[in-house]
Amino acid sequence: MNSAQLAAQWEDQVIATRRYLHQHPELSGHEVNTAAYIVEQLSKYPNLELSRPCPTGVVAVLHGAKPGRTVAARCDIDALPVQEVDDSPYKSVTPGVMHACGHDNHIAMLLTAAKILAANRHELRGTVKVLFQPSEEVGIGALDMIEDGALEGVDAAFGMHVWPELASGRVSLEPGPRMASTDRFRIDIQGKGGHAAAPHLCVDATPAAAFLAVNLQTLVSRSISPASSAVLTIGSLHSGSRWNVTSGSAYLEGTVRCFDEETRKTIREGMKRMADRVAAAHGCTAETTYTWLSDAVINDPAITAVAAGAAAEVLGPDGLASVPPTLVGEDFAVIMHRVPSAFGFFGIRNEAVKAAFPLHTDRCTSDESGLIGGALIFVKTAYNFL
Ligand code: NI
Repeated sequence: MNSAQLAAQWEDQVIATRRYLHQHPELSGHEVNTAAYIVEQLSKYPNLELSRPCPTGVVAVLHGAKPGRTVAARCDIDALPVQEVDDSPYKSVTPGVMHACGHDNHIAMLLTAAKILAANRHELRGTVKVLFQPSEEVGIGALDMIEDGALEGVDAAFGMHVWPELASGRVSLEPGPRMASTDRFRIDIQGKGGHAAAPHLCVDATPAAAFLAVNLQTLVSRSISPASSAVLTIGSLHSGSRWNVTSGSAYLEGTVRCFDEETRKTIREGMKRMADRVAAAHGCTAETTYTWLSDAVINDPAITAVAAGAAAEVLGPDGLASVPPTLVGEDFAVIMHRVPSAFGFFGIRNEAVKAAFPLHTDRCTSDESGLIGGALIFVKTAYNFL
């Protein structure tokens, strides 16, 4: 298959698909019309076997003309509760909901790739499983798909996320740690409330919470190797209810991100120890709830090399870019921990078309002219792996 010919043949379709999806975003777990649209599009190709896990996911299986291994290509399909401010003709028609994480691009690229693969089945060896995964933004979709059998028989998996910091026409496919594990915590501090003028008759929860907020940062600076990366962010801190009442309770909530399990364990254990003892130092008690959400995205070197080779074929050797690892999370990690996988950052930045705003913002958009390249990277990665 010739990349230039395929690009000319399919470019309009990938852009039209992206625009339709951008106009019709749906929140995590509610991707009913999105899934129906994907099924409707893929139903035109009788050699694709379609199934509906989750229930808002879609899996398309394509058996090649010759036997071989099985590769999975995955994208996520959900949108975010963000009000779009752009005035483009394909602005979201659903108030307060927007494809602000660019998953509309992911669907458009993978849907087009599935069609290209189906239309050229005679050239394919082995099996491609195309996974359209719901509920990525809430971190549960990948596991739901796996529990419904989406990875059965799969030898390797591949996915990409659009990346507004990277120029359109370039992609990062690099081995090793790429995205961080993502955990959530809440620490409840219990003291004893009372009159603001009588602190000696109370156990004030506010100083305990304040000291703890400061001390927790030393878990990162003093407990883990300086060669490792980690972030501990307290996103909210609440104490008390009124200016003239001593606070009887407080809580802190936040997230921990890192790349290796040892660091993750050290921070989790240190957090509980510190919460208990800092609270006790102020006469309070603490209860720590630590939730493991998603693991780190660590690219398998062999699969990443296959995907990078495919990307170089499609985009040319200058298409391969280096992007530093990010402490943003991604539930593709759940797939990666079961089969060797690669995950890429796909450039969509082009200031000339206002595609320069970060993910999860109300102006986030992409340089659509590059999307056909992403579709072809999915296609070539499947071919080259199989
Ligand atoms: Ni995303």
